[in-house]
Amino acid sequence: MQQERGQWQSTAGFILAAAGSAIGLGNIWRFPYVAGTNGGAAFVFIYLVCVALICLPYLFCELSIGRRTGRNPVGAMLALKGKSPWSLVGGLGVLTGVCILSYYGVIAGWAFGYIFKSFVAPAMSLGDFSANALVAVPLFALFLLFTVLVVARGVEKGIEKSARILMPMLLVLMLLLIVRGLTLPGAMKGVEFLVKPDFSVVTPATVLAALGQAFFSLSLGMGAMITYGSYLPKSANLPTSGVWVALFDTGIALLAGFMIFPALFALGGNPSSGPPLIFEVLPRVFEQMPMGAVVAAVFFILLSIAALTSTVSLLEVPVSYVVDEKRWSRKKSVWVIGGAAFALGLPAALEPSTPALQSMSFLGATGFLSVMDLIWGNISLGVGAMLLCIFTGWVWGFRNAGAELQQGGTMSDGMVKVWGLFIRFICPIFIFLVLLSLFPFGARFLASLGIG
Ligand code: PFF
Repeated sequence: MQQERGQWQSTAGFILAAAGSAIGLGNIWRFPYVAGTNGGAAFVFIYLVCVALICLPYLFCELSIGRRTGRNPVGAMLALKGKSPWSLVGGLGVLTGVCILSYYGVIAGWAFGYIFKSFVAPAMSLGDFSANALVAVPLFALFLLFTVLVVARGVEKGIEKSARILMPMLLVLMLLLIVRGLTLPGAMKGVEFLVKPDFSVVTPATVLAALGQAFFSLSLGMGAMITYGSYLPKSANLPTSGVWVALFDTGIALLAGFMIFPALFALGGNPSSGPPLIFEVLPRVFEQMPMGAVVAAVFFILLSIAALTSTVSLLEVPVSYVVDEKRWSRKKSVWVIGGAAFALGLPAALEPSTPALQSMSFLGATGFLSVMDLIWGNISLGVGAMLLCIFTGWVWGFRNAGAELQQGGTMSDGMVKVWGLFIRFICPIFIFLVLLSLFPFGARFLASLGIG
């Protein structure tokens, strides 16, 4: 069993892999459209506050649980608490990994297909492209296949090595596109949209969107960072590594904003076009540039790279569970779980061509893929994060977790105490209120208290 478990070759390798997990469609596809529909700079400001005050303290919980136990989310709970309902929280994380992978892989498949689409059928809309099941399903399968092949190679040779090559490539490609966008006449209006906040547009829904986006973007709430932390040696400095991961992820989300909005404003697009923003608006923006098809291809290569390092982590969580707890081989695990994600994601891949799947709705989300994203990408991550805060703060104990954070690092006792306040009180209460506001009865209750 131990043979199948790996270890990062260096802390830098871990930071790149964890940043690779965090940086994905969430940063480049979801962040700009959520920011665009929520008023731009004001959303960005609230997002940054959520990352610093809620997500970062919580990230330390996952990393300390992971490294202390050296296990997957379920095994970690078993190791710290024995057989107890807390292992179900780990189980929820494993299940969430498979479920997010299923629909995330569909969007990643579109991104991959768009690399070629800019040459073959530049005028086609996302609707028409994704409604062709003979294109969307094989692209989805292909993307899952790439993911399976990376994860099958294991922690150091597969995940760490691919992140070391892919992450710097991503940064270089993004910088090229930012320079291109910023040098267009009229680009400054896009910069203003991102940096001049108008707080009059902020509502409780804005805060909800910002917190949900921050958890999703940092890969938090389902034990991905427990799993990645479990491959860290005792000598690694957990708080510093965690801060680096959060900085990289937030930096790339902001860069994605600067890559998209200046070009969009310069060439006359609508910032609040929602999920199709980068798929529909950006190719139109690229068309107006010299060598537009090449720029578009570069952009979608970049998006596919970012998505791949994230799907790898989504698959690694359930794989580490069956490798540790069920003693399956890594090879068998990746194929079986990859196959399950494919089956589960088929309705999302078929949604654009199937009216019945488009009309599904739940708590304001419409369409199979959006409903899956709401349940697994928002609610489940929030619930998981709230419960893991409570577990770390009150059950395992913030002093025990703090001792793990101090090992290999320089965190003072005073800092552990402050951190304890965050994970025992501020984080779980804030997450709870935000989750409550998702449900109509909760929103009414909060309104009656004068919150929101
Ligand atoms: N953080 C990834 C992104 O921003 O695209 C998505 C993700 C990966 C969420 C892994 C959760 C996770 F465990």
